[in-house]
Amino acid sequence: MTIELNKEIDETRQGEATVIETTPSSNGKKLYVESYGCAMNFADSEVVASILAKEGYATTADVEEADVVLINTCSIRENAESRVRNRLTNFKSRKQRQPGLVVGILGCMAERLKKDLLEEEKLVDLVAGPDAYRDLPGLIEEVESGQKAVNVLLSRDETYADISPIRLDKNGVSSFVSITRGCDNMCSFCVVPFTRGRERSRDPQTIYNECKDLFDQGYREVTLLGQNVDSYRWNMTSKGEIKDATKPTTNFAELMDMVAGISPHLRIRFSTSHPKDMTDEVLEVIAKHENICNYIHLPVQSGNTNVLDRMNRSYTREWYLGRIEAIRRIIPDCAISTDIISGFCDETEEEHNDTISLMKEVKWDFAYMYKYSERPKTLAERRFEDNVPDDVKGKRLTEIIDLQQVHSLEANQRHVGKIQKVLIEGRSKRSEDFLAGRNDHNVKVVFPKGEFSKGDYVMVNITDCTAATLLGEVVELVNQD
Ligand code: 5AD
Ligand code: SF4
Repeated sequence: MTIELNKEIDETRQGEATVIETTPSSNGKKLYVESYGCAMNFADSEVVASILAKEGYATTADVEEADVVLINTCSIRENAESRVRNRLTNFKSRKQRQPGLVVGILGCMAERLKKDLLEEEKLVDLVAGPDAYRDLPGLIEEVESGQKAVNVLLSRDETYADISPIRLDKNGVSSFVSITRGCDNMCSFCVVPFTRGRERSRDPQTIYNECKDLFDQGYREVTLLGQNVDSYRWNMTSKGEIKDATKPTTNFAELMDMVAGISPHLRIRFSTSHPKDMTDEVLEVIAKHENICNYIHLPVQSGNTNVLDRMNRSYTREWYLGRIEAIRRIIPDCAISTDIISGFCDETEEEHNDTISLMKEVKWDFAYMYKYSERPKTLAERRFEDNVPDDVKGKRLTEIIDLQQVHSLEANQRHVGKIQKVLIEGRSKRSEDFLAGRNDHNVKVVFPKGEFSKGDYVMVNITDCTAATLLGEVVELVNQD
């Protein structure tokens, strides 16, 4: 299955299982993994599959034949958690039918709720937080010996750098590669710093090697993942001091430069950028490499500086506009998307209108838009009241979504009449006679299949569009020699 680049996939993809199938196991047991939430969770499930494959677990797409079921969860908004709870309730009845079945919860909900799901609700046998996956074989053994098993220790240095993930997404063309874990930003609305712990960067050589291996296996696109990719740093402290003077340092711009050098036929994407940290050096590297896609996901959250301050985002409306200006200056043809939250604590009608006016000014190509959802333990929960009534949050969100729809359609219309390079990801969902891929700007392009296959780059003449998709016809196959 293809995963939308980045983003909190829970809004669009919750309930869809990432299903893994690998070679038969040597321990005769089968693992079924289901993932919810952001791209990082989907990437983590691949690490989990790899850790358990070493113990002899085969993976299965059929939950009915599984001996171990693991659910990798998201806590970012309350509705993300409710969906997982519903799903766990289904498994509870399955456990009654199959007493030996091990059901475990991974990821952010595991970290946030710790023992609650084991003890109070008895929904699961095993709880493993995002930094505890190496311990899964031991935790499963504990469950099999009749105990309940928990490891929610967060680490300051775990990056799973040495683990070669088993690819669960079978498209064989695009893959996620984690470059950092955790987050140190403490945006006041966000639970991530509590569930995923302190920020740490992964050894650049292991990132390079993973991307190179993917390319050698036929993959043609990697998405470098981090909560804030711009704060990637190797052998440097957060203040920019060198840790070990005998070794080289690497920042995000340098990392992208390295990875882009693997092959001109390997497309590089990255997510998520942070307005406070995104440097001109990064933009210059994007401009320099044809194979680094001209697409930046730059969450704004609000168009009003006071709201941004309450959100602890560390930038103003003007600063954000300055970053947009820099993108447009350094990478003239660059798509920009964003995240927007409606109805954050104390948000007034004027403050909301500033978000609307910023939308009109920036005209993002695409946006992920959410109602504020208060999360336990966050700074906002402790400092402010969640006092914008739900119907007001909803009304503001609708206004935001309606305006974005207009902007997305306008952005797509600008592609019509152009010939664009598209990486084919597979069959179109709607028809067997059509293929689908993405252009440089990360917009989905659908066209008649002809003689082409996934993994091919084709030049497509864009003839029509909707707010979500471009339609066209292939004019040429790009030679990858
Ligand atoms: N409520 C609503 N949206 C949230 N996000 C993060 N936390 C919350 C919350 N408590 C959104 C932000 C972030 C995206 C990943 O999810 O827009 O950029
Ligand atoms: Fe959450 Fe802010 Fe970190 Fe993103 S940058 S994960 S919104 S705290």
